[in-house]
Amino acid sequence: MDGPFVYLDNAATTWPKPEPVYKAVDETMREFGANPGRSSHHMSQQAERIIADARHAVARFFNAPSPEHVVFTLNCTDSLNIALKGLIKPGDRVVTGPYEHNSVMRPLRSLQRSGVSVAVARGTGDFQIDLDHFRELCHAGIDFAVISHASNVTGCLSSVREIAGIVHEQGGILILDAAQSAGVVEVDMDRMGIDILAAPGHKGLLGPMGVGILILGRDIPVDPFREGGTGIKSEGDYQPEELPWRLEGGTANLPGIAGLLAGIRFIESVGIGSIASHEAELARQLVEGLKGVDGVRLFCDPVDPKTGVVSFTLDAMDVALAGTILDQAFKIGVRTGLHCAPAAHKALGTFPSGTLRASFGYFNDESHVERLVAAVRQLSKTC
Ligand SMILES: Cc1ncc(COP(=O)(O)O)c(C=O)c1O
Repeated sequence: MDGPFVYLDNAATTWPKPEPVYKAVDETMREFGANPGRSSHHMSQQAERIIADARHAVARFFNAPSPEHVVFTLNCTDSLNIALKGLIKPGDRVVTGPYEHNSVMRPLRSLQRSGVSVAVARGTGDFQIDLDHFRELCHAGIDFAVISHASNVTGCLSSVREIAGIVHEQGGILILDAAQSAGVVEVDMDRMGIDILAAPGHKGLLGPMGVGILILGRDIPVDPFREGGTGIKSEGDYQPEELPWRLEGGTANLPGIAGLLAGIRFIESVGIGSIASHEAELARQLVEGLKGVDGVRLFCDPVDPKTGVVSFTLDAMDVALAGTILDQAFKIGVRTGLHCAPAAHKALGTFPSGTLRASFGYFNDESHVERLVAAVRQLSKTC
Protein backbone atom coordinates (compact mmCIF):
# COMPACT_ATOMS: atom_id res chain seq x y z
CA MET A 1 0.00 0.00 0.00
CA ASP A 2 1.46 3.38 -1.05
CA GLY A 3 1.04 6.61 0.87
CA PRO A 4 1.97 7.76 4.36
CA PHE A 5 0.92 5.99 7.55
CA VAL A 6 -2.63 6.93 8.57
CA TYR A 7 -2.90 7.44 12.33
CA LEU A 8 -6.42 6.66 13.57
CA ASP A 9 -5.68 6.16 17.27
CA ASN A 10 -6.42 9.64 18.59
CA ALA A 11 -8.54 8.32 21.47
CA ALA A 12 -5.35 6.79 22.92
CA THR A 13 -3.40 9.99 22.37
CA THR A 14 -3.69 12.64 19.68
CA TRP A 15 -1.01 12.75 16.99
CA PRO A 16 0.33 14.86 15.42
CA LYS A 17 0.17 17.88 17.70
CA PRO A 18 -0.26 21.43 16.38
CA GLU A 19 3.10 23.07 15.55
CA PRO A 20 2.83 25.63 18.42
CA VAL A 21 2.68 22.73 20.91
CA TYR A 22 6.05 21.33 19.77
CA LYS A 23 7.44 24.84 19.78
CA ALA A 24 6.17 25.64 23.29
CA VAL A 25 7.67 22.43 24.76
CA ASP A 26 11.02 23.03 23.07
CA GLU A 27 11.16 26.75 23.89
CA THR A 28 10.18 26.19 27.53
CA MET A 29 12.90 23.60 28.06
CA ARG A 30 15.56 25.70 26.35
CA GLU A 31 14.70 29.18 27.58
CA PHE A 32 12.66 28.99 30.77
CA GLY A 33 13.71 25.59 32.10
CA ALA A 34 13.95 26.67 35.75
CA ASN A 35 11.94 25.23 38.61
CA PRO A 36 8.61 27.14 38.49
CA GLY A 37 7.88 29.41 41.42
CA ARG A 38 10.56 27.98 43.70
CA SER A 39 13.19 30.71 43.32
CA SER A 40 13.23 34.49 43.09
CA HIS A 41 15.32 34.72 39.91
CA HIS A 42 13.68 35.76 36.67
CA MET A 43 13.79 32.34 34.98
CA SER A 44 11.87 30.72 37.82
CA GLN A 45 9.38 33.57 37.79
CA GLN A 46 8.92 33.24 34.03
CA ALA A 47 8.37 29.50 34.41
CA GLU A 48 5.75 30.19 37.10
CA ARG A 49 4.03 32.70 34.77
CA ILE A 50 3.61 29.98 32.13
CA ILE A 51 1.92 27.76 34.71
CA ALA A 52 -0.30 30.62 35.89
CA ASP A 53 -1.29 31.37 32.27
CA ALA A 54 -2.09 27.71 31.70
CA ARG A 55 -4.20 27.57 34.88
CA HIS A 56 -6.18 30.62 33.70
CA ALA A 57 -6.60 29.13 30.23
CA VAL A 58 -7.86 25.79 31.60
CA ALA A 59 -10.27 27.51 34.03
CA ARG A 60 -11.69 29.67 31.21
CA PHE A 61 -11.88 26.74 28.79
CA PHE A 62 -13.96 24.57 31.17
CA ASN A 63 -15.76 27.44 32.92
CA ALA A 64 -14.26 26.48 36.30
CA PRO A 65 -14.85 28.69 39.37
CA SER A 66 -11.26 30.02 39.42
CA PRO A 67 -7.73 29.19 38.20
CA GLU A 68 -6.90 28.00 41.74
CA HIS A 69 -9.44 25.21 41.34
CA VAL A 70 -7.33 23.78 38.49
CA VAL A 71 -4.78 21.14 39.57
CA PHE A 72 -2.12 19.86 37.19
CA THR A 73 -1.58 16.10 37.33
CA LEU A 74 0.21 13.39 35.33
CA ASN A 75 -2.69 12.18 33.17
CA CYS A 76 -6.40 11.46 33.46
CA THR A 77 -5.78 8.30 35.50
CA ASP A 78 -3.81 10.34 38.04
CA SER A 79 -6.60 12.96 38.20
CA LEU A 80 -9.22 10.26 38.79
CA ASN A 81 -7.12 8.53 41.47
CA ILE A 82 -6.50 11.80 43.30
CA ALA A 83 -10.23 12.59 43.30
CA LEU A 84 -11.58 9.12 44.07
CA LYS A 85 -9.05 8.14 46.74
CA GLY A 86 -8.93 11.62 48.24
CA LEU A 87 -12.67 11.90 48.68
CA ILE A 88 -14.43 8.56 48.99
CA LYS A 89 -14.36 6.99 52.46
CA PRO A 90 -15.42 3.58 53.85
CA GLY A 91 -19.20 3.52 54.19
CA ASP A 92 -19.76 5.88 51.22
CA ARG A 93 -21.90 4.77 48.30
CA VAL A 94 -20.80 5.37 44.69
CA VAL A 95 -22.88 4.94 41.55
CA THR A 96 -21.06 4.52 38.25
CA GLY A 97 -21.82 3.80 34.60
CA PRO A 98 -21.72 0.62 32.50
CA TYR A 99 -18.96 1.72 30.10
CA GLU A 100 -16.25 2.94 32.46
CA HIS A 101 -12.52 2.77 31.79
CA ASN A 102 -10.21 0.87 34.15
CA SER A 103 -8.96 4.22 35.43
CA VAL A 104 -12.39 4.55 37.08
CA MET A 105 -13.22 0.87 37.73
CA ARG A 106 -9.90 -0.18 39.29
CA PRO A 107 -9.77 2.60 41.91
CA LEU A 108 -13.45 1.97 42.65
CA ARG A 109 -12.91 -1.78 43.08
CA SER A 110 -9.99 -1.11 45.37
CA LEU A 111 -12.11 1.32 47.41
CA GLN A 112 -14.81 -1.33 47.53
CA ARG A 113 -12.36 -3.64 49.32
CA SER A 114 -12.06 -0.98 52.05
CA GLY A 115 -15.81 -0.80 52.65
CA VAL A 116 -17.13 1.53 49.93
CA SER A 117 -20.32 0.40 48.21
CA VAL A 118 -20.22 0.53 44.39
CA ALA A 119 -23.35 0.22 42.21
CA VAL A 120 -23.11 -0.01 38.41
CA ALA A 121 -25.97 1.29 36.24
CA ARG A 122 -27.07 -0.74 33.23
CA GLY A 123 -26.60 0.33 29.62
CA THR A 124 -29.26 0.60 26.93
CA GLY A 125 -29.33 -0.96 23.45
CA ASP A 126 -28.06 2.30 21.97
CA PHE A 127 -24.98 2.51 24.22
CA GLN A 128 -26.38 5.03 26.69
CA ILE A 129 -26.59 4.81 30.47
CA ASP A 130 -30.05 3.53 31.41
CA LEU A 131 -31.17 6.65 33.25
CA ASP A 132 -34.15 4.95 34.90
CA HIS A 133 -31.82 2.40 36.45
CA PHE A 134 -29.28 5.11 37.30
CA ARG A 135 -32.01 7.12 39.04
CA GLU A 136 -33.17 4.03 40.95
CA LEU A 137 -29.60 3.37 42.17
CA CYS A 138 -29.19 7.01 43.21
CA HIS A 139 -32.51 6.97 45.06
CA ALA A 140 -31.24 4.00 47.09
CA GLY A 141 -28.54 6.38 48.43
CA ILE A 142 -25.57 8.10 46.85
CA ASP A 143 -22.52 10.06 47.97
CA PHE A 144 -20.68 10.14 44.63
CA ALA A 145 -21.34 9.36 40.98
CA VAL A 146 -18.44 8.72 38.59
CA ILE A 147 -19.32 8.76 34.92
CA SER A 148 -17.39 9.03 31.65
CA HIS A 149 -18.61 11.87 29.44
CA ALA A 150 -17.77 10.03 26.21
CA SER A 151 -17.13 6.29 25.99
CA ASN A 152 -13.69 5.44 24.62
CA VAL A 153 -15.24 2.33 23.06
CA THR A 154 -18.42 3.60 21.38
CA GLY A 155 -17.77 7.37 21.30
CA CYS A 156 -21.31 7.94 22.63
CA LEU A 157 -21.86 10.91 24.95
CA SER A 158 -23.59 10.68 28.34
CA SER A 159 -26.37 13.15 29.15
CA VAL A 160 -24.28 14.92 31.78
CA ARG A 161 -26.80 17.63 32.67
CA GLU A 162 -29.55 15.14 33.33
CA ILE A 163 -27.18 12.88 35.28
CA ALA A 164 -25.97 15.86 37.35
CA GLY A 165 -29.61 16.73 38.13
CA ILE A 166 -30.31 13.22 39.42
CA VAL A 167 -27.09 13.11 41.48
CA HIS A 168 -27.60 16.57 43.02
CA GLU A 169 -31.25 15.86 43.86
CA GLN A 170 -29.95 13.09 46.14
CA GLY A 171 -27.14 15.25 47.58
CA GLY A 172 -24.33 13.47 45.70
CA ILE A 173 -21.16 14.79 44.05
CA LEU A 174 -20.63 14.19 40.31
CA ILE A 175 -17.11 13.29 39.16
CA LEU A 176 -16.82 13.38 35.38
CA ASP A 177 -14.18 11.45 33.43
CA ALA A 178 -13.75 13.78 30.45
CA ALA A 179 -10.86 11.79 28.92
CA GLN A 180 -12.60 11.49 25.56
CA SER A 181 -14.53 14.75 25.53
CA ALA A 182 -12.13 17.46 26.77
CA GLY A 183 -11.07 19.42 23.69
CA VAL A 184 -13.39 17.36 21.50
CA VAL A 185 -16.82 18.74 22.46
CA GLU A 186 -17.75 21.67 24.65
CA VAL A 187 -17.48 20.95 28.39
CA ASP A 188 -18.84 23.71 30.64
CA MET A 189 -18.57 22.72 34.30
CA ASP A 190 -20.99 25.31 35.59
CA ARG A 191 -23.67 24.86 32.96
CA MET A 192 -23.46 21.05 33.00
CA GLY A 193 -23.39 20.73 36.80
CA ILE A 194 -20.00 18.97 36.98
CA ASP A 195 -18.59 19.01 40.53
CA ILE A 196 -15.20 17.49 39.67
CA LEU A 197 -13.66 17.08 36.24
CA ALA A 198 -10.74 14.81 35.31
CA ALA A 199 -9.08 15.10 31.90
CA PRO A 200 -5.83 14.20 30.17
CA GLY A 201 -3.72 16.90 28.52
CA HIS A 202 -2.47 14.57 25.77
CA LYS A 203 -5.71 13.62 24.02
CA GLY A 204 -8.25 16.17 22.75
CA LEU A 205 -6.48 19.06 24.46
CA LEU A 206 -3.55 18.38 22.10
CA GLY A 207 -0.79 18.72 24.69
CA PRO A 208 2.09 16.30 25.26
CA MET A 209 1.94 13.12 27.35
CA GLY A 210 2.67 13.41 31.06
CA VAL A 211 0.17 16.14 31.89
CA GLY A 212 -3.41 15.93 33.09
CA ILE A 213 -5.91 18.16 34.87
CA LEU A 214 -8.22 17.84 37.82
CA ILE A 215 -10.71 20.67 38.33
CA LEU A 216 -12.80 21.15 41.44
CA GLY A 217 -16.08 22.90 40.71
CA ARG A 218 -16.12 24.32 44.26
CA ASP A 219 -14.21 23.90 47.51
CA ILE A 220 -14.60 20.15 47.83
CA PRO A 221 -12.15 18.84 50.47
CA VAL A 222 -10.03 16.32 48.54
CA ASP A 223 -7.32 14.83 50.78
CA PRO A 224 -3.90 14.82 49.13
CA PHE A 225 -1.99 11.55 48.87
CA ARG A 226 1.10 13.21 47.36
CA GLU A 227 2.56 15.69 49.83
CA GLY A 228 5.79 17.65 49.57
CA GLY A 229 7.33 20.90 48.38
CA THR A 230 4.96 23.52 47.02
CA GLY A 231 7.00 26.74 47.02
CA ILE A 232 4.55 28.25 49.55
CA LYS A 233 4.35 27.95 53.37
CA SER A 234 7.67 26.13 53.35
CA GLU A 235 8.09 26.74 57.09
CA GLY A 236 5.43 24.14 57.98
CA ASP A 237 5.62 20.32 58.13
CA TYR A 238 2.06 20.06 56.84
CA GLN A 239 0.77 20.27 53.28
CA PRO A 240 -0.84 23.70 52.70
CA GLU A 241 -4.65 23.66 52.71
CA GLU A 242 -4.91 26.10 49.79
CA LEU A 243 -5.67 24.96 46.27
CA PRO A 244 -3.97 24.14 43.99
CA TRP A 245 -0.91 23.51 46.21
CA ARG A 246 -2.88 21.16 48.48
CA LEU A 247 -2.94 18.64 45.61
CA GLU A 248 0.26 19.61 43.76
CA GLY A 249 3.29 18.50 45.80
CA GLY A 250 6.61 18.41 43.91
CA THR A 251 8.03 20.03 40.79
CA ALA A 252 5.46 20.58 38.05
CA ASN A 253 5.80 19.27 34.48
CA LEU A 254 6.58 22.71 33.06
CA PRO A 255 7.22 21.66 29.41
CA GLY A 256 4.05 19.55 29.48
CA ILE A 257 1.96 22.37 30.93
CA ALA A 258 3.42 24.84 28.39
CA GLY A 259 2.49 22.39 25.60
CA LEU A 260 -0.99 22.00 27.05
CA LEU A 261 -1.42 25.78 27.10
CA ALA A 262 -0.41 25.92 23.42
CA GLY A 263 -2.88 23.10 22.67
CA ILE A 264 -5.75 24.96 24.34
CA ARG A 265 -4.86 28.18 22.51
CA PHE A 266 -4.88 26.22 19.24
CA ILE A 267 -8.33 24.78 20.02
CA GLU A 268 -9.62 28.27 20.89
CA SER A 269 -8.25 29.66 17.62
CA VAL A 270 -9.97 26.93 15.55
CA GLY A 271 -13.11 26.82 17.70
CA ILE A 272 -14.27 23.77 19.65
CA GLY A 273 -17.44 23.67 17.52
CA SER A 274 -15.41 23.25 14.31
CA ILE A 275 -13.27 20.54 15.88
CA ALA A 276 -16.34 18.68 17.17
CA SER A 277 -18.15 18.80 13.84
CA HIS A 278 -15.01 17.82 11.86
CA GLU A 279 -14.33 14.72 13.97
CA ALA A 280 -18.00 13.71 14.16
CA GLU A 281 -18.34 14.13 10.38
CA LEU A 282 -15.37 11.80 9.75
CA ALA A 283 -16.95 9.26 12.12
CA ARG A 284 -20.25 9.60 10.25
CA GLN A 285 -18.51 8.99 6.91
CA LEU A 286 -16.74 5.94 8.32
CA VAL A 287 -20.00 4.55 9.68
CA GLU A 288 -21.66 5.05 6.28
CA GLY A 289 -18.72 3.38 4.50
CA LEU A 290 -18.57 0.40 6.87
CA LYS A 291 -22.33 -0.17 6.69
CA GLY A 292 -21.76 -1.28 3.08
CA VAL A 293 -19.14 -3.91 3.99
CA ASP A 294 -20.23 -7.53 4.59
CA GLY A 295 -19.71 -8.91 8.07
CA VAL A 296 -18.98 -5.58 9.79
CA ARG A 297 -20.74 -4.92 13.10
CA LEU A 298 -20.71 -1.38 14.40
CA PHE A 299 -20.62 -0.36 18.07
CA CYS A 300 -21.28 3.39 18.00
CA ASP A 301 -24.10 5.81 17.18
CA PRO A 302 -25.09 4.42 13.75
CA VAL A 303 -26.68 7.66 12.51
CA ASP A 304 -25.31 10.73 14.23
CA PRO A 305 -21.97 10.20 16.00
CA LYS A 306 -20.94 13.11 18.25
CA THR A 307 -17.24 12.29 18.60
CA GLY A 308 -14.58 10.75 16.35
CA VAL A 309 -14.63 7.27 17.94
CA VAL A 310 -16.00 4.26 16.00
CA SER A 311 -15.71 0.65 17.18
CA PHE A 312 -16.42 -2.32 14.94
CA THR A 313 -15.81 -6.04 14.55
CA LEU A 314 -15.50 -8.31 11.50
CA ASP A 315 -17.51 -11.53 11.58
CA ALA A 316 -14.81 -13.52 9.83
CA MET A 317 -11.60 -12.21 11.38
CA ASP A 318 -10.20 -11.85 14.86
CA VAL A 319 -9.81 -8.16 15.79
CA ALA A 320 -6.13 -8.48 16.79
CA LEU A 321 -5.23 -10.11 13.45
CA ALA A 322 -7.26 -7.51 11.53
CA GLY A 323 -5.43 -4.71 13.39
CA THR A 324 -2.03 -6.20 12.54
CA ILE A 325 -2.95 -6.53 8.85
CA LEU A 326 -4.29 -2.97 8.78
CA ASP A 327 -0.98 -1.76 10.19
CA GLN A 328 1.42 -3.89 8.18
CA ALA A 329 -0.32 -4.30 4.84
CA PHE A 330 -2.38 -1.10 4.68
CA LYS A 331 -0.35 1.32 6.83
CA ILE A 332 -3.32 2.25 9.01
CA GLY A 333 -3.03 2.47 12.80
CA VAL A 334 -6.20 1.59 14.72
CA ARG A 335 -6.48 0.16 18.22
CA THR A 336 -7.68 -3.38 18.88
CA GLY A 337 -8.85 -5.25 21.96
CA LEU A 338 -10.54 -4.01 25.12
CA HIS A 339 -9.20 -0.42 25.12
CA CYS A 340 -8.78 -0.71 28.94
CA ALA A 341 -12.57 -0.80 29.29
CA PRO A 342 -13.58 -4.47 29.92
CA ALA A 343 -16.81 -3.34 31.61
CA ALA A 344 -17.91 -1.62 28.40
CA HIS A 345 -17.20 -4.75 26.35
CA LYS A 346 -19.16 -6.90 28.78
CA ALA A 347 -22.09 -4.50 28.31
CA LEU A 348 -21.71 -4.56 24.50
CA GLY A 349 -21.19 -8.34 24.22
CA THR A 350 -17.68 -7.94 22.75
CA PHE A 351 -15.78 -9.33 25.76
CA PRO A 352 -13.07 -10.73 25.80
CA SER A 353 -11.77 -10.12 22.28
CA GLY A 354 -12.96 -6.51 22.06
CA THR A 355 -13.27 -4.38 18.95
CA LEU A 356 -11.28 -2.57 16.31
CA ARG A 357 -11.42 1.12 17.16
CA ALA A 358 -10.78 3.96 14.72
CA SER A 359 -10.58 7.37 16.39
CA PHE A 360 -10.25 10.60 14.44
CA GLY A 361 -8.50 13.78 15.44
CA TYR A 362 -8.42 17.30 14.06
CA PHE A 363 -5.63 16.43 11.59
CA ASN A 364 -7.45 13.54 9.92
CA ASP A 365 -9.41 14.04 6.72
CA GLU A 366 -11.79 12.26 4.34
CA SER A 367 -8.96 10.51 2.50
CA HIS A 368 -8.14 8.67 5.75
CA VAL A 369 -11.71 7.45 6.02
CA GLU A 370 -11.60 6.25 2.42
CA ARG A 371 -8.31 4.39 3.04
CA LEU A 372 -9.79 2.58 6.07
CA VAL A 373 -13.08 1.67 4.35
CA ALA A 374 -11.22 0.31 1.30
CA ALA A 375 -8.88 -1.72 3.53
CA VAL A 376 -11.73 -3.20 5.60
CA ARG A 377 -13.58 -4.08 2.38
CA GLN A 378 -10.52 -5.99 1.18
CA LEU A 379 -10.18 -7.75 4.52
CA SER A 380 -13.78 -8.85 4.43
CA LYS A 381 -13.31 -10.24 0.87
CA THR A 382 -10.18 -12.20 1.73
CA CYS A 383 -11.63 -13.96 4.75
C1 LIG B 1 -12.59 7.12 29.09
C2 LIG B 1 -11.16 7.17 29.55
N1 LIG B 1 -10.90 7.48 30.83
C3 LIG B 1 -9.64 7.56 31.29
C4 LIG B 1 -8.56 7.35 30.48
C5 LIG B 1 -7.17 7.43 31.03
O1 LIG B 1 -6.47 8.48 30.47
P1 LIG B 1 -4.88 8.62 30.66
O2 LIG B 1 -4.27 7.65 29.72
O3 LIG B 1 -4.57 10.04 30.34
O4 LIG B 1 -4.56 8.29 32.06
C6 LIG B 1 -8.78 7.02 29.12
C7 LIG B 1 -7.66 6.74 28.23
O5 LIG B 1 -7.79 6.26 27.14
C8 LIG B 1 -10.12 6.95 28.65
O6 LIG B 1 -10.39 6.66 27.39
